[in-house]
Amino acid sequence: MVVAAITPLKVLIIGAYGMLGHDLQAAFPAATLCGHQDLDITDEAAVERYIRRVRPALVINAAAYTDVDGCEEKRDLAFAVNGEAPGHIAAACQEVGAILVHYSTDYVFDGAKTSYVESDKTNPINVYGASKLRGEEEIARCMDDYRIIRTSWLFGLHGKNFVDTILGLSQRMDQVRVVDDQVGKPTYTRDLAEKTAEIVGCPPGIYHITNDGVCSWYEFASAFIDNAVPCSSAEFPRKAKRPAYSVLVNTKTPPLRHWREALADYLIERRDRS
Ligand SMILES: NC(=O)c1ccc[n+]([C@@H]2O[C@H](COP(=O)([O-])OP(=O)(O)OC[C@H]3O[C@@H](n4cnc5c(N)ncnc54)[C@H](OP(=O)(O)O)[C@@H]3O)[C@@H](O)[C@H]2O)c1
Repeated sequence: MVVAAITPLKVLIIGAYGMLGHDLQAAFPAATLCGHQDLDITDEAAVERYIRRVRPALVINAAAYTDVDGCEEKRDLAFAVNGEAPGHIAAACQEVGAILVHYSTDYVFDGAKTSYVESDKTNPINVYGASKLRGEEEIARCMDDYRIIRTSWLFGLHGKNFVDTILGLSQRMDQVRVVDDQVGKPTYTRDLAEKTAEIVGCPPGIYHITNDGVCSWYEFASAFIDNAVPCSSAEFPRKAKRPAYSVLVNTKTPPLRHWREALADYLIERRDRS
């Protein structure tokens, strides 16, 4: 769906060249595109200058430091990019009267419950989740007209993601061990980008937007390779702890299609590009 025809807003996409950012470009084709080389969002004065100059009516921020394990080692960078910078963007949006759409994560929750609605209590268990939660809080502190979209397990054509990694491993190895004790909701960036347009027209607040359907990483991998083998998180230690259940429940808008359907489209598009 192309949104510009029905959305006469001047749109600025920050983080336009990331995995989600690329699909936002397609959903908002008239948008001004801003990449890392154009603006470092941790530079408060530069963010203010940039947004004052462009004077958008809608800012979509898809920029983030998304390396979950990297965040454990680069805590200051994680909090600067994911925690403080969204506040700089929000303050500038408030000044020019722009709506802000920002993306957050299922990792703001601890995974002790099996699913989470938008109003559930947050309790991140890794630095990435804590830094993203700070970003949510900074936005709410600085402005009113925001939409925070929490999403999970993104895959898309324009970035490193689980599906690509597992497909590569599957070709090189007899068996691919994949954790079966972390459960969540895979989400196609193209579906999320298109849904973003709808969220702009919804009331301010927090939204949980994912593809429909719940699975473990092992079940997800088994949907597109035939040599996946289940293992536990304990057998596969990582720097950052991950929540056991990070199932986001959307109580506010119509659901997106099932992840299996989205995955099928993704795999076709991926094949056609290669
Ligand atoms: N990927 C997931 O599974 C997932 C899950 C839940 C939520 N999310 C959220 O969804 C959003 C989009 O994620 P994504 O996977 O599309 O991210 P991505 O592919 O990693 O893209 C993030 C973009 O942000 C840019 N960036 C990083 N630091 C910056 C800075 N200081 N100033 C300006 N730009 C900067 C990066 O540029 P460089 O590459 O040049 O640094 C990159 O283009 C993020 O808010 C993320 O937290 C993602």
